[in-house]
Amino acid sequence: MTPLPEPDVSNETVVETYNRLAALYDWFITPLQAGTRQRALDLLAIERGEHVVEVGCGPGHALVALADRVGPDEDIVGLDAAANMAGRARRRAVREGVNHQIEICLGDARSLPFRENVADVAFIEDTLELFAEDEMTTVVGELKRILRPDGRLCVVTMERAGAEDDLFVRAYDWLFERVPGYERFGCRPIYASRTLEEAGFEVERRERLHRAWVWPVEILIARPM
Ligand SMILES: C[S@@+](CC[C@H](N)C(=O)[O-])C[C@H]1O[C@@H](n2cnc3c(N)ncnc32)[C@H](O)[C@@H]1O
Repeated sequence: MTPLPEPDVSNETVVETYNRLAALYDWFITPLQAGTRQRALDLLAIERGEHVVEVGCGPGHALVALADRVGPDEDIVGLDAAANMAGRARRRAVREGVNHQIEICLGDARSLPFRENVADVAFIEDTLELFAEDEMTTVVGELKRILRPDGRLCVVTMERAGAEDDLFVRAYDWLFERVPGYERFGCRPIYASRTLEEAGFEVERRERLHRAWVWPVEILIARPM
């Protein structure tokens, strides 16, 4: 296994980057995510009435899709550490007419402001890979803490295991290590399934897809063991 490149900057710096670039992210990145997000939500097979929490909700596209899936009487909670992302998510919920269903919190994935065993489903998309390795373990531990014992977790991420020689993985490593300032975005492929298993999840499904034909993304569905 190749070592995971670790950021020299703190998560607070990464959050500040997303806070500043929230509008650009919303315009340019989110259109690329639509297909993989839809597939992830299909694999999660959310049932009406389930209580769903999304961590690192960004500008709120998944929250709107989730609201549709849980049905009109259920609340979804989205959490993000960047105020501008949370603001965009709130405005999106209003525009889409689902704001009565969506509660958005400003908070930290490393210490979630929720009680234990409250969620049937936890969703985290393109966010776990922003953390240093020890913090990733903390975030996954928090996701496990808030999930009910029979709950399920969906992680959408860039999986490194089995893809170390992938050109895209190598390109990310090059960006991370060689391009000054890149690590402020935080993203790089990670050992996601290993992190989940070490935190006490059983990964029951993995699906590898591509965004825009070249950007490999893995959808992992896991349950607390
Ligand atoms: C790459 S964006 C993904 C946003 C959204 N999930 C999506 O797929 O469009 C990563 C998000 O994680 C958020 N984030 C980073 N560190 C965080 C932390 N410690 N707690 C909560 N959110 C965090 C950022 O503010 C940003 O909105």
